[in-house]
Amino acid sequence: MHYPYQIKSQQQYENDYALSIKNPKEFWANVAQHFTWFKPYDTVLNWEFNTPDVKWFEGGKLNITYNCLDRHAATHPDKVAFIFEPNDINQRTQKITYAQLLQQVSQTCYALQSIGVQKGSRVIIYMGMVPQLAITLLACARMGAVHSVVFGGFSARAIADRVADAKADFIVTCDAANRGAKHVLLKEIVDDALLHVDVKKVLVYKHAGINVNMKPDRDVWLHDIQNKLQVQSLPLFQPVVMDAEDMLFILYTSGSTGKPKGVVHTCGGYMVWVAYTFVNVFQYKPGQIFFCTADIGWITGHSYLVYGPLLAGATSLMFEGIPHYPDAGRLWDIVDKHRVEVLYTAPTAIRSLMAAGLDFVKDKNLTSLKVLGTVGEPINEEAWHWYHKYIGNGNCPIVDTWWQTETGGILISNLAGITPHKPAHATTPLPGVQPILLDDQGKEVTGNNVSGNLCIKFPWPGMLRTTYGDHERCRQNYFATYAGYYFTGDGCMRDAEGHYRITGRVDDVLNVSGHRLGTAEIENAINTHQGVIESAVVGFPHDIKGQGIYAYVIYQGDDVDAQANIAITVSNMIGAIARPDKIQLVAGLPKTRSGKIMRRILRKIAEGEINQLGDVTTLLDPTIVDDIKNNRQ
Ligand code: PRX
Repeated sequence: MHYPYQIKSQQQYENDYALSIKNPKEFWANVAQHFTWFKPYDTVLNWEFNTPDVKWFEGGKLNITYNCLDRHAATHPDKVAFIFEPNDINQRTQKITYAQLLQQVSQTCYALQSIGVQKGSRVIIYMGMVPQLAITLLACARMGAVHSVVFGGFSARAIADRVADAKADFIVTCDAANRGAKHVLLKEIVDDALLHVDVKKVLVYKHAGINVNMKPDRDVWLHDIQNKLQVQSLPLFQPVVMDAEDMLFILYTSGSTGKPKGVVHTCGGYMVWVAYTFVNVFQYKPGQIFFCTADIGWITGHSYLVYGPLLAGATSLMFEGIPHYPDAGRLWDIVDKHRVEVLYTAPTAIRSLMAAGLDFVKDKNLTSLKVLGTVGEPINEEAWHWYHKYIGNGNCPIVDTWWQTETGGILISNLAGITPHKPAHATTPLPGVQPILLDDQGKEVTGNNVSGNLCIKFPWPGMLRTTYGDHERCRQNYFATYAGYYFTGDGCMRDAEGHYRITGRVDDVLNVSGHRLGTAEIENAINTHQGVIESAVVGFPHDIKGQGIYAYVIYQGDDVDAQANIAITVSNMIGAIARPDKIQLVAGLPKTRSGKIMRRILRKIAEGEINQLGDVTTLLDPTIVDDIKNNRQ
């Protein structure tokens, strides 16, 4: 396998970037020709951002799994596609070759087909980090079914909401997931979700060996079906022919308003984008072991644990557990055990492992590492230097990759060893990506040493096409703030050299341990708690998590443990990741005369800047602020 579209020098990056702007259609046609299309596309790109309406490779027919699996199984059947490292250190590592993976995906297709899944069906997947999770994604994609993975840390309520929004008839789950010293009882949580919403079938994969309730006619074991069908003796399940613009998956993510929205990605553009960015950003070389620590429940796992590496015929390492189990040296042990060459993780993991101390690093070898990556939130310089010095031994480039669920793949990042890295800077856009900074009035901020709201002015193949079931919401959220531009929701600086540095969200979205949460979503959960009149949630700087969650709550009940119980309600409604770090009970919230909550003031108080609240005279009742300040958590 070689990658004709891999950029090999700074000069080539500059040339390719220039070409991708001058003639984007020619540029992407050149990349797209290196994939297998059952029928060539008619047009490379048709677009306009007002509606929005974006189509890449229209008329092209393909199946992404043919490109991920069949191609490689034909030429390198014995090459390892996945290395699976179990949570429990006493359990054996598993290696799955491309030929085996293709077989297993095919066998899962038959099982899904027999319970009624077909092209266009939406399938909710709620599993732990086990190979069958990746296999299920690929099986859906092979059949043309639309997968929607729900992170295993989300609650029953969150699953029910997603089943309803996606109008999904099917759920695939496990008996339980192993995470550190705990079992997460996934099937039981699915059962709870199904008290609120119906599906036709639940397919259950036996992993942890935990007893579960199986509801007759609805719940079926994957192994039972596969035995009954004698899948081993069936021919390879043929990939369904998909249109480039057919839906590949939905992934729910939080925004500044309302419930999480289902971001829709389509087959052709996403395929080209994740393969292109994987090979270029990480400068992946055939034979290398690539270890992305993200959960497949998030976009990073979709694009850089499953699809990107498989499209490149790479070996992708999947880890079931958590970085602190059994101790804070676990990730480094995995790196040494498998001679990992590329490691891709999140600043929150780096900060927490840094806090655990150097004892967990000092005896590790780590010399196999060639490239380090970070994603999900701004990385502070201290964490960057620690990662560079102690994990990368001072000689690995660090790619600081900025992107979002909506962008499908990386948009701004240095290219490992090709373009320079710079602590805490995502640096330069990938070919095809046209960033622009706009001020609050929508005027372009030109020149260097400036900051503004980060927007993108031209489509790239991997961008979202819509939000499931509500195209208007997609327009409102991303294309209405600045007419004619995709608005990212991030603030950004452009430094003296023209390098981009993402400073964080400028909307009401929090980034807690790299997990994206809407303040409105958390407030809605808090407000369901009995006795709660109103609430306001803001973020505050947190040493490990990046941002913590601070909730101000007007409560009029008689529960002496109200704070703890409100926190439990949030865990039940969304998941433990959304549990507020601090809950302050207040008599009132600072509001303007028109009734708008002044979050700026609440943010300052949560940050501890109580003497710099600015002008409070426009408040309906300025005395409320003193009360909140005095009782700060
Ligand atoms: O604020 C940015 C931050 O994460 C947000 C996207 O979150 P999500 O859709 O969950 O996707 C995360 C994984 C791609 C962005 O709007 N973010 C992501 N990467 C970076 C980042 N902030 C700073 N630097 C990054 N490298």
